[in-house]
Amino acid sequence: MSEGTKKTILTCAQPTGQLHLGNYFGAVRNWVSFLDDHECFFGIVDQHAITTPYVPAELRRSTYRTVALYIACGLDPAKCRLFAQSHVIGHTELAWILGCLCPLGQLERMTQFKEKSQREDAGFVGSGLLFYPVLMAADILLYNADIVPVGEDQKQHIELCRDLAIRFNNTYSETFKVPDVSIPRDGARIRSLQSPDKKMSKSDPNQSGCVYLLDPPDRVRKKIMSAVTDSGREIRALPEKPGIANLLGILAAATGTPVAELEAAHAGKSYGEFKAVVADAVIACLEPIQKRFSEIDGDKAYLDSVFKEGADTAQARAYKTLAKVYRKAGFVPRPR
Ligand code: AMP
Ligand code: TRP
Repeated sequence: MSEGTKKTILTCAQPTGQLHLGNYFGAVRNWVSFLDDHECFFGIVDQHAITTPYVPAELRRSTYRTVALYIACGLDPAKCRLFAQSHVIGHTELAWILGCLCPLGQLERMTQFKEKSQREDAGFVGSGLLFYPVLMAADILLYNADIVPVGEDQKQHIELCRDLAIRFNNTYSETFKVPDVSIPRDGARIRSLQSPDKKMSKSDPNQSGCVYLLDPPDRVRKKIMSAVTDSGREIRALPEKPGIANLLGILAAATGTPVAELEAAHAGKSYGEFKAVVADAVIACLEPIQKRFSEIDGDKAYLDSVFKEGADTAQARAYKTLAKVYRKAGFVPRPR
């Protein structure tokens, strides 16, 4: 397939410096599968990261770690564009224009905003947190992405992005592609090992519920062996057994075997035996990632070169879109 006919995939994630199994199975691994036959852009959204209180030096460090982790997970810089959002002029500019088209009520109704702003430990809630989904829409529309692969929790934000694309096209004239969302089937929602009613998350107050890709094998085993289950004995993915269903989902994602087959294969095992199988599978899945990460983490010159290449290509595309948008919005041409 030649460049011009390839569809554009774009997705982004926050520079947490840590990815957990939910990020990997629900997102990053799915992105890798697009590399060969799509034009791929992967943004590390450092501007999103400042919507909640943070420490600048840590943001810088974790942005490098995040790009190193992505590369270790298989996002080969020779096959895709890895860029930092703040390196590309246009994200915040387009967000402003889209924001002027976005009803306030729609932002106030966003599940993620409500969750984050109403948490007991939310602390200071800046208006950036409310505006976040508009910036996310700009991230996507700036590149005229065809497909946006994300986890299920981001579906509502993509809906907003689609609404804003349509509203812009109707208000001015046809400009943006209305992007499609792609949500992986297996592992679309990995849950906390300690509270399987909640998604696995780095902000889980109980950190033993969250397995990080860089956790050493003994820690992975410990977390999985102490996962919350139930008082029954059956290894089945039933709604009333969220803990076991989650472990089955994790095993399915780690081994590529459908849940139904796993239920049959492990019927009759004790929960302890089953957890040991899950732990082995996850450890084996993480081993090559950890090895590659240790080779590149700390090689700042290499990581900077990856960012530069990514930003150069991303910027060329972003400028094109921004120029078109500014013209349609009625701004006078920028003096040269
Ligand atoms: P975040 O770390 O929240 O910025 O998420 C990065 C990507 O991972 C997004 O596409 C999320 O939808 C996805 N993701 C985060 N947590 C989970 C989870 N527990 N299960 C599945 N996907 C997730
Ligand atoms: N909001 C997304 C998350 O928390 C990250 C994100 C920002 C994103 N901009 C994006 C994802 C654009 C896809 C496309 O996971």
